[in-house]
Amino acid sequence: MTFELFSDGGEAGVLALAPGARILPAWAQSGAESLLAAVATVAACAPFRQMRTPGGRAMAVAMTNCGPLGWISDEAGYRYGATDPLTGRPWPAMPGVLSALAEGAARAAGYPGFVPDACLVNRYLPGVGLSRHQDRDERDLAAPIVSVSLGLPAIFLFGGLRRADSCRRYRLGHGDVVVWGGPSRLCFHGVAPLAPGSHPLLGPERINLTFRRAG
Ligand code: SIN
Ligand code: FE2
Repeated sequence: MTFELFSDGGEAGVLALAPGARILPAWAQSGAESLLAAVATVAACAPFRQMRTPGGRAMAVAMTNCGPLGWISDEAGYRYGATDPLTGRPWPAMPGVLSALAEGAARAAGYPGFVPDACLVNRYLPGVGLSRHQDRDERDLAAPIVSVSLGLPAIFLFGGLRRADSCRRYRLGHGDVVVWGGPSRLCFHGVAPLAPGSHPLLGPERINLTFRRAG
């Protein structure tokens, strides 16, 4: 696993992936139990489900959302919407503990004033990964992405602005936070299939929270 040591005068312990992209190791670790309790309240209203790709296949990652807008994929394409297609109700409100964490991590990574209006919750099991993609469904590309990892570790693949650019591999463990924006906002990224394992709080699962300014 290659970790690039922060080299542009930033805070000790912060790792630079690319210009504008940082890993904040263990940033969310001490608050992880309250984050997971908040995720459980969200999932009680808007259950995890495997959305369909525009091509009609079920995605391996199970997803739900909270906040004013939620990311949706189905036969009609990728988009954000205010209503959960499964329940017909608005997505659950974003718990304050989640938005506060995202705002603080964004600030620490050099993006003060980030106010997310969408939190996508991704659930991975061993063997499940996410193919390389850009996050480009958001209206406001000036805002960063804040991505929180909980539970089983994963290998995060972070590349460049072109699909063909090679990716570097970073191990993301429980409580690690990645923030990318500015010149790296549209960098390709993905997640390698999870290795088998069991985490003390989550068992055989990884939960990823991805905060965005979508609308
Ligand atoms: C994503 O790109 O939406 C998720 C990334 C992750 O699970 O770490
Ligand atoms: Fe993404």
